[in-house]
Amino acid sequence: MMSGTRVVLMRLLSLVVVVTFVCTKGAEGARAFFVFGDSLVDSGNNDYLPTTARADSPPYGTDYPTHRPTGRFSNGYNLPDLISQHIGSESTLPYLSPQLSGQKLLVGANFASAGIGILNDTGIQFVGILRMFQQFALFEQYQQRLSAEVGAAQAKRLVNGTLVLVTLGGNDFVNNYFLTPVSARSRQFTVPQFCRYLISEYRNILMRLYELGARRVLVTGTGPLGCVPSQLATRSRNGECVPQLQEASQIFNPLLVQMTRQINSQVGSEVFVAVNAFQMNMNFITDPQRFGFVTSKIACCGQGRFNGLGTCTAVSNLCPNRDTYAFWDAYHPSQRALGFIVRGIFSGTSDIMTPMNLSTIMAFDSNIC
Ligand SMILES: *[C@@H]1O[C@H](CO)[C@@H](O)[C@H](O)[C@H]1NC(C)=O
Ligand SMILES: *[C@@H]1O[C@H](CO)[C@@H](O)[C@H](O)[C@H]1NC(C)=O
Ligand SMILES: *[C@@H]1O[C@H](CO)[C@@H](O)[C@H](O)[C@H]1NC(C)=O
Repeated sequence: MMSGTRVVLMRLLSLVVVVTFVCTKGAEGARAFFVFGDSLVDSGNNDYLPTTARADSPPYGTDYPTHRPTGRFSNGYNLPDLISQHIGSESTLPYLSPQLSGQKLLVGANFASAGIGILNDTGIQFVGILRMFQQFALFEQYQQRLSAEVGAAQAKRLVNGTLVLVTLGGNDFVNNYFLTPVSARSRQFTVPQFCRYLISEYRNILMRLYELGARRVLVTGTGPLGCVPSQLATRSRNGECVPQLQEASQIFNPLLVQMTRQINSQVGSEVFVAVNAFQMNMNFITDPQRFGFVTSKIACCGQGRFNGLGTCTAVSNLCPNRDTYAFWDAYHPSQRALGFIVRGIFSGTSDIMTPMNLSTIMAFDSNIC
């Protein structure tokens, strides 16, 4: 028994030695990054589009290094920037930016567009935004441009080894199903039926992404939609999170985890990683003081109840210290709150990151030869 175990251990040890010998970790440099989704991850594509969903005027960007608006729905950096910083890459440019050309293509690209959802009929009020099928058409175009730059084989390898982030779903509730007291979708579906319908469409989207070459994909669930200042302002009596929207998130998110698990077993690899954004946001929403926030109910920039009405503009109320507010505007967390979410993405336990966190993915992938 003992000697058998020892032999196995020795073999394992020599295997480890061989693997570390053959793979020079991190020699290929920083990893590229692709981003798809909505305003939580749009880094400025909408600035180039005929839409009302834009963050192109002050005080957006007030805490960004340039102190100017960048198209990000944040006071400073957004979620993709903070992930890029953690993986040691520069931020990916919006795909529509004229600066994205030549060697810059090797860093990746951001295809996200504020206002969109899983469904094509989500966000129609914002007019000219990039829906998922359009984001994917641009991703194909990107791959052709990358091939022209570095050759087809190298382009394929780069896409295959790249980290991808997809953030979708919130708008299908707040800017579609629940947008008006009665909506076309709420007439068609109960909330649980709508969630199942969204998941079946989301599945198609993720499978399409797999066909396009993505092999490491972070898929964020919806945040606590009933707790954002806009919902507190319009539907909450005393500032308590709105039950209908919370319940919708709590039906949708577990179905998303189940669906990503199922695709992984279908493709035979842990390609899709579900991110429990709901729980991570709830941590600072339920106990803001523990995270150094003075409030999680009032938006830093806005007007009306909880600063949650209308949009954030130059004439809105603006809090003096953005770091002490969990929400920057009526919908989007502040840069500092996003930092806590990114920490969870990197080192969260398996109830936050299913089946594994990003540190584990990075360590694992750096050992692939
Ligand atoms: C959205 O529209 C595109 C293009 O018309 C179509 O291919 C796609 O299936 C639609 N998606 C959904 C969820 O209806
Ligand atoms: C793509 O990635 C997967 C898993 O990371 C790997 O098994 C496969 O060999 C890669 N394919 C190419 C063409 O690089
Ligand atoms: C997540 O990452 C940390 C390292 O930061 C690691 O110690 C931990 O075990 C990981 N958790 C899971 C569940 O993968």
